[in-house]
Amino acid sequence: MRNLLAVCGLAVLALLPNAASARPELRVLTDRTESHLRPFFTDYEKAAGVGITAVFLDKGLISRLESRPTEADLVITKDVELMELAKQKKLLQPIASATIKKAVPARFQDPDRYYFSDSYRARVIFYSKDRVKPEQLKGFEGLADPKWRGRVCLRSGYHDYNLSLFGQMMAAWGAERTRKVVAGLDKNLARTPTGNDRDQARAIAEKKCDVAIANSYYMGIMLSSKAERSWGLATRVFFPGQDSEGSFILRSGLGLTKSKTNVKAATAFLEYLVSEPVQDRIAQLTFAYPVNSKQPLPAINRELGKGQTGIKDGVFKIRSVAPKDIAGHRTAVLRLLDELKFDRPR
Ligand SMILES: [Fe+2]
Repeated sequence: MRNLLAVCGLAVLALLPNAASARPELRVLTDRTESHLRPFFTDYEKAAGVGITAVFLDKGLISRLESRPTEADLVITKDVELMELAKQKKLLQPIASATIKKAVPARFQDPDRYYFSDSYRARVIFYSKDRVKPEQLKGFEGLADPKWRGRVCLRSGYHDYNLSLFGQMMAAWGAERTRKVVAGLDKNLARTPTGNDRDQARAIAEKKCDVAIANSYYMGIMLSSKAERSWGLATRVFFPGQDSEGSFILRSGLGLTKSKTNVKAATAFLEYLVSEPVQDRIAQLTFAYPVNSKQPLPAINRELGKGQTGIKDGVFKIRSVAPKDIAGHRTAVLRLLDELKFDRPR
């Protein structure tokens, strides 16, 4: 009987279309940089015997998801606020994984389990090593002071990184205090908001401005790059808010679309990303801060904020704002930027 069953089982398998090539093909929709994700895709394809295809978008992640809700199995974004918006638009399904629940600290998980973060970074102040002393810096509010007139560089106010930062200010500080800071920054800009975060460090190196706002991991990326190393060497990182509430952070966001095709395999990939060895690799490779690691930070990150009160071996105090509260202020942030005509030519 057992033999018969075995034979029948084989026969059924043979009849299935593509039985030999039935490896799951995971489909990812992401606004993350391809070079950032590719090594993790490649490793996992080898380790788990699955294929991963990805759509890389620079902008418009949510509208793509709205127009093609089951095009992908997974969404991976550089900005967790977008996951909250996707959740509110009912574009995600909850993640059923005890492994993720256990591995990821609660503040990096959506309470309803629709998304979580695997890593984060701080949105910090970059300053000129030669022309600015860290004692002169007093957080983001300090950068709004008239003494920085014509000395601040920033990418578009409407970029997701800045929308998230300003949204966190609104959630943590209220509308009035945030307006003062953003309006002060607007007055102090040295040039039209342009380029990406690294271009602001470059502008400091080229003496176009003395301070900028950028993400912490770019220091590691610049110092590891032949072409950009001089920008990193000309600048230093200051973590705002360390003598008070802590620094605002930007979190990655990961979740499952409403697609039913590969839920199990997609969940397994998410579990892989929060496993300790992969988390350590995320830190080493991307200079982002992993949410589940016991290893010391990479050497470059241990140097960031050195000498600032409260920072030891690169570990800084975080002012955590719930993604729901950031997303809740997005419209008000956009209105404020419009009102100031923040991106106008200068
Ligand atoms: Fe980035």
